[in-house]
Amino acid sequence: MTIHSTRTESHSLDGKNPDEGERQTAMSDPAAQLTEQRIVVLDFGSQYAQLIARRVRDQHVYCQIVRHDITADRMAELAPRGIILSGGPSSVYEENAPQIDPAIFDLGIPILGICYGMQIACQALGGKVDNTPSREYGRAMCDFIDHDSIFRGMQACEQVWMSHGDQVSQIADDFTVMAKTATCPYAAIRHNTRPVYAMQFHPEVTHTPHGGQILHNFVRDICGCDGSWRLGDFADAAIAQIRATVGDKRVICGLSGGVDSSVVAALLYKAIGTQLSCILVDNGMLRKNEQRIVIDEFSNHFKADLHVVDAEDQFLDDLAGVEEPQEKRRRIGYAFIECFKAEAEKIEDAHFLAQGTLYPDVIESGADKDGPAATIKLHHNVGGLPDELGFELIEPLRDLFKDEVRRLGIELGLPEQLVWRHPFPGPGLAVRCLGEVTREKLVVLREADAIVVEEIENAGLYRETSQAFAVLLPVQSVGVMGDARTYDNAVAVRCVNTDDFMTADWSHLPYDLLARISTRIINEVKGVNRVCYDISSKPPATIEWE
Ligand code: XMP
Repeated sequence: MTIHSTRTESHSLDGKNPDEGERQTAMSDPAAQLTEQRIVVLDFGSQYAQLIARRVRDQHVYCQIVRHDITADRMAELAPRGIILSGGPSSVYEENAPQIDPAIFDLGIPILGICYGMQIACQALGGKVDNTPSREYGRAMCDFIDHDSIFRGMQACEQVWMSHGDQVSQIADDFTVMAKTATCPYAAIRHNTRPVYAMQFHPEVTHTPHGGQILHNFVRDICGCDGSWRLGDFADAAIAQIRATVGDKRVICGLSGGVDSSVVAALLYKAIGTQLSCILVDNGMLRKNEQRIVIDEFSNHFKADLHVVDAEDQFLDDLAGVEEPQEKRRRIGYAFIECFKAEAEKIEDAHFLAQGTLYPDVIESGADKDGPAATIKLHHNVGGLPDELGFELIEPLRDLFKDEVRRLGIELGLPEQLVWRHPFPGPGLAVRCLGEVTREKLVVLREADAIVVEEIENAGLYRETSQAFAVLLPVQSVGVMGDARTYDNAVAVRCVNTDDFMTADWSHLPYDLLARISTRIINEVKGVNRVCYDISSKPPATIEWE
């Protein structure tokens, strides 16, 4: 391995938005090439559309999310084995409610409508949807009348998860009722002559305990997918495709120590070996010993070229006197681009830039041509690199969800502790050191943070928690140590459990663990005399404090 270490000169801000401009990716879709057997989810704005896709992939069937107004012609070109119509927040009878091209029902492809998807199917095929007096949110007991096809294996009565204000109030003669609840006479229905199934409840959420069975029945039995989608095959296809795209050119990959960039690097290294150059920008906002850990992990796994840019001084200079959180993020984002660019220019023949873009990023940013329009503003993507760097982009993970990336990391031989590392924000400790960031504050925060993580690991709770860290508050308070009065800093401990980081609950850590964390921080970290535990969930709080 070659390690280049560079101390960067100071750079000015270029005033450009790092997110500007559409970027093209050099690789086409290895996932799609792998399988003829795909399911598509039409997204009607549901918070669960991505979850549906993940649950389908749990059945080893490739699943893709597309915009709800996709035309029947385009759908015929995609030729999925099955179509799932997602839920959504609208009412089908409202003006401007998201619609479906009705010709999709004539393609002969099996269709499953869920919640809003059921209502839109009924509206298209001759039923009636009304606002119900008995809105249902939460668990409901459902009577399954028909145990053939989609409900094969379900008990006569089972718990399901409902979340709706409207429901189907009348079905056309062509439909048969398959399930009902006390307040929902058409909890599930099927068409008598077309392969169309619909349910008011959500099989994709864990609160419908046998929802996985229902999705299995749909995608495997009704749609006829054989469940051959495997991550190992994905890796082989992605590697072959990287080789074909890259040829004998050089690829640059930014390393952050996080799982996504590590998996991208591992995949590239398998594909093109020493044609890979990695760049690690140490912005001075990394956790304790992080630079060393990343270098060690890297050298244990790859023999590729690694450039470490030691840019703490530049970042601290750029942050001097800045207290406003978004301004801190902005400056860090620009400084990162400057550093990365300066280092990349030193790498001769670099042609491609590899990035760890994931499927949710592609979907939420509206970057997929068949995908839904951008709905969620990504306020976190500092650290993104702009177009003008002049590289062609390679995004080998753009078809994968986070849990699939982790599994792929294991397949590629990366160590468990790297693959299961908690996420760490691009601006790093800067957004956990509230107010102005200084070298002195970072020293305190780093030590406190290392204790939080170490104690959670020692308690065997690291994998059970989603993110755990310390925050240095801009607050001093009075304390007493020995006989002396102190006036020192307060540290907050933040630890959350979440599936998707969009919502999160604070982790109910055992008191004795919290006590150990507090005692150790106060005893071992000079400058801290008080520790608080953050018991706010998201929303309304966020995971980070800034
Ligand atoms: P919040 O604080 O919005 O965080 O609840 C949700 C997830 O996003 C991470 N996060 C960031 N990641 N740049 C990043 O790369 C950022 O500026 C940023 N801010 C928050 C956060 O750590 C959590 O995992």
